[in-house]
Amino acid sequence: MKTNRRTLVAYFSHTGENYAVGVIEKGNTAVIAEMIAEATGGTLFEIVPVEAYPATYNECIAVAKAEKESGARPAVQGDVAVEDYDTIFIGYPNWWGDMPMAVYTFIEKHRWQGKTVIPFCTHEGSGLSSTERRLADACKGATVAKGLAVKGTTAQNKRDQARREVQAWLAKVF
Ligand SMILES: Cc1cc2nc3c(=O)[nH]c(=O)nc-3n(C[C@H](O)[C@H](O)[C@H](O)COP(=O)(O)O)c2cc1C
Repeated sequence: MKTNRRTLVAYFSHTGENYAVGVIEKGNTAVIAEMIAEATGGTLFEIVPVEAYPATYNECIAVAKAEKESGARPAVQGDVAVEDYDTIFIGYPNWWGDMPMAVYTFIEKHRWQGKTVIPFCTHEGSGLSSTERRLADACKGATVAKGLAVKGTTAQNKRDQARREVQAWLAKVF
């Protein structure tokens, strides 16, 4: 593990009602992001949209679908100087086989030349879908490492198992 690298853990995660886990106060991806930050000494940054996604699952999936279909770039709050880091973990839930559009808003604010990007996602069956390739396209000039996909139910309800999955993957990519 290379702890001398300047490491950022940027993630998006949704609270409220979610698929298979009921109403949650900490999002599934947030759980994994915190494990990664703890293990790597990285700085956490949460990508938060200016306009919150609906808390209700059915409404949230409808908004997310419309955003994906239109290629929306919803505004996000605050920012972090990605340029100051060498390795950037990017975490997100799998939404309709893609990253939430707010993650693209964040990515497109920055320059990625020479950076190492390490993806991770939570999901309920689709894994990473094609998000590693999409990240490689969006983060121009970055090297994109092999991502981790953890089931949201595992992240939320089986933390010891989730931590083992995170550690085994970090040993390979970090
Ligand atoms: C809008 C929306 C779309 C989703 N689409 C998918 C999907 O296409 N494939 C999948 O496996 N899970 C899908 N899910 C489930 C989430 O990926 C899963 O619950 C994830 O762990 C949520 O992470 P979070 O709590 O960090 O937001 C979707 C959930 C939502 C809310």
